[in-house]
Amino acid sequence: MAKVKITETALRDSHQSLIATRMTTEEMLPILKEMDEVGYHSLEVWGGATFDACLRFLNEDPWVRLRKIREVAKNTNLQMLFRGQNILGYRHYSDDVVEYFVQKSIANGIDIIRIFDALNDARNLETAIKATNREHAQSGKGHVQVALSYTTGPIYTTDYYVNYTKQLVDMGVDSICIKDMAGLLKPYDAEVLVKAIKESFPTLPVELHTHYTAGLASMTTLKAIEAGCDIVDTAISPLALGTSQPATEPIVAALQGTPYDTGLDLVKLDKISKYFSTLREKYLASGLLNPKVLKVDANTLLYQVPGGMLSNLISQLAQMGKSDKLQECLEEVPRVRADAGYPPLVTPSSQIVGTQAVMNVIYGERYKSVTKEFKGMIKGEYGRPAVPIDPDFQKKILGDEQPITCRPADLLKPELEDLKKKVAPYAEQEEDVLSYALFEQVATKFFDARKAAKLNLDEGTADKQAKIHTV
Ligand code: CO
Repeated sequence: MAKVKITETALRDSHQSLIATRMTTEEMLPILKEMDEVGYHSLEVWGGATFDACLRFLNEDPWVRLRKIREVAKNTNLQMLFRGQNILGYRHYSDDVVEYFVQKSIANGIDIIRIFDALNDARNLETAIKATNREHAQSGKGHVQVALSYTTGPIYTTDYYVNYTKQLVDMGVDSICIKDMAGLLKPYDAEVLVKAIKESFPTLPVELHTHYTAGLASMTTLKAIEAGCDIVDTAISPLALGTSQPATEPIVAALQGTPYDTGLDLVKLDKISKYFSTLREKYLASGLLNPKVLKVDANTLLYQVPGGMLSNLISQLAQMGKSDKLQECLEEVPRVRADAGYPPLVTPSSQIVGTQAVMNVIYGERYKSVTKEFKGMIKGEYGRPAVPIDPDFQKKILGDEQPITCRPADLLKPELEDLKKKVAPYAEQEEDVLSYALFEQVATKFFDARKAAKLNLDEGTADKQAKIHTV
């Protein structure tokens, strides 16, 4: 029996889930050498929210962060999360931008690219998979992992996931991950699922990514391991549980002396744990870490909606003074989801379905008013859902507009050259065009601040209108 490997999420998902992705590079670097020496399979360090938060809130260049981490973490794989054709952003990008992003991520230090699509539409993964494989062929670097967005519903049988995996294997992935972003995967379902995938693809490495939100994650992780899961995502204990991952140390301890032994040293992990405990205290004291996110959210189990989506619904209704409609909305969510072809509820589908459900209830008539995003989803702008949308329903929502049936990015012209021209006045490195492509306004503001800092100016006194900087 092969040893189980650990992906440590402290530097990406765990602080994204607990403290809105606000951990700074300065907070990461002092412990990185110790983390690099533990023997983790990988350190998850990068993703959409980390990239965005660096530029938007921390005044940090995410590319510089990646290079600094790479400089210290010489022995451990560095891993990122990549939203298929959306890269790290919220719209579909043309293939040339996706390819360039993959190339630059690997060149700056990423080893493993975990790619997923919110609808599990493999066409949205094609370009990123090919680009990673091309990089691997050229530089020997780059491992492509695809994450299956896990959800529940009539179509999402074990066969569904096995068939999806087959598609991905044919496309040339190196490993797969079961991505349970909402923490809905139950222990015995995980066992069945992992067994089925391993039976069909015995040599394909399978990883599990889950969240502790509903209180199931450690049990689910253990059953997945017993069923043959090769790699599991955990977070060092001070940054684990709640909406984050199961804790690393108890998983390591539970497996010691068994055929699944991770081989990791609890004494070494303790050093890392002590470091992050101090940070945790700081986050609690500043209010960045709200104890509310640390409790088991049983509502997730009851309504099968991710915790984040539930809190969105509650706050949307509160703003409208309609908090009494929560139950009705929760009952409307699965109906809207069914109409939309049962998309997994993950960004952005969770917000789109949730908002439409609220509108259906508030207006007192279903689809009397339809959001632009919901219409886009029904049109096929995000890709093809697992269950075909009823043509009559589609017609009702779209009117005379024709649905999109091709891969959405096929409708996009190359845009990299144009973006390069636009970013030219700000660019100090080749990667800047990618920051600009993903988060145009936020990146521009960051570039301005970077320039001002270089000129040793107080950006507050720079007269942007007249393009004059006071000296
Ligand atoms: Co996650």
